[in-house]
Amino acid sequence: MTVLTALAQGRELLERAGIAVPRLTAEVLLAHAMRCERVYFYAHPEQELKEVEWLHYGRYLHERLQGKPTQYITKRQEFYGREFRVTPDVLIPRPETEHVVEAALEVARGAARVLDIGTGSGALAITLRLELGGETWGTDISPAAAAVAAGNAANLSAPVHLVVCDLAEAIAADSFDLIVSNPPYVPLAQKEGLQREVRDFEPHVALFGGETGFELYDRIVADAPRILRTGGWLIMELGFGCLNHVEQSIAGWRNVRIMPDLAGIPRVVAAQRQ
Ligand SMILES: C[S@@+](CC[C@H](N)C(=O)[O-])C[C@H]1O[C@@H](n2cnc3c(N)ncnc32)[C@H](O)[C@@H]1O
Repeated sequence: MTVLTALAQGRELLERAGIAVPRLTAEVLLAHAMRCERVYFYAHPEQELKEVEWLHYGRYLHERLQGKPTQYITKRQEFYGREFRVTPDVLIPRPETEHVVEAALEVARGAARVLDIGTGSGALAITLRLELGGETWGTDISPAAAAVAAGNAANLSAPVHLVVCDLAEAIAADSFDLIVSNPPYVPLAQKEGLQREVRDFEPHVALFGGETGFELYDRIVADAPRILRTGGWLIMELGFGCLNHVEQSIAGWRNVRIMPDLAGIPRVVAAQRQ
C-alpha cells in the first residue's frame, strides 16, 4: 500500500461518512501514523507504508469515523502559532479565541500580572505569558485540565502558576492587571443541537455554563472587581447570543469595547475596572 493509495482510500471513507475536509483529514491522520509532516507525502507519494503505519492509520480513521475530533487523535492543536497538546480532558482551542489574545495585546500590553479563568489546555494563559511576559496565573475546576495546561506550559517554556479552584475563589484581592476568560457558555438546552464531535467528545464542564449559558459570565463579572487593581482590564470571549446580557452586566465598567471576529460576529468584550 503506497502513500497515494492510502490517502485516496482514507479520503473516500471519510467523504462517504460526511466528515468535513476529508482529504486534509486523511493527510493529517496518515502523517500522524507515519510520524512525519504532511508535506512529506508530496515528495514521496509512492512510498510503501510499513505494517505498523498502516495499522495506526486504520485505527485513526476508525476513530474519526466514530466522531472523535482529529485533534484528540493527533493530540495537538495550534493556537496563536504554537502547538498545544490536547486530550479529551480539555476543550480544543478555537481560532476565534485568538481574538482574546489580540484584545489583550491591544488594551493591556503592560499588564504585569495576568489571570486566565478556566484555562483548559492553557492556550490563553501560556500565550499571554509568552506575548506579554507578565506573571501569569491560570485556574480551572478540572484537575485533569490543569495537568494538561501544566504539560503545555513546560513544553512551551512558559512559567504559568496553575490553581485548581472554582473560577477565581483561590485568587487574592487587588492583585491582577488583566483577567481573561473563555468561560463555558453553551446553554444546556442547546446540548442536543451541538455537532456530535463537540457534544460527545469535548468535556461538558468546558462547554456548558448552565441553563442560560450566562451563569459563569455573571459570576466572573461579579468577582472581577475584587481581583483587579484599579484600571485593570477584564477580557472575555463572547458566546453566540451572549452580547446583550454581558453588556448589561458590565454597564458600570469603563471603556467597554466589543470586538468582532473575522465573520463580523461580536466575539470579545473588554472593559476596565472603575
Ligand atoms: C470553554 S473552556 C476554555 C478553555 C481555554 N481557556 C480555551 O480558551 O481554549 C472553559 C474552561 O473552564 C473550565 N471551567 C468550567 N467551570 C469552571 C469553574 N467553575 N471554575 C473554573 N474553571 C471552570 C473548564 O474546565 C474549561 O477548561
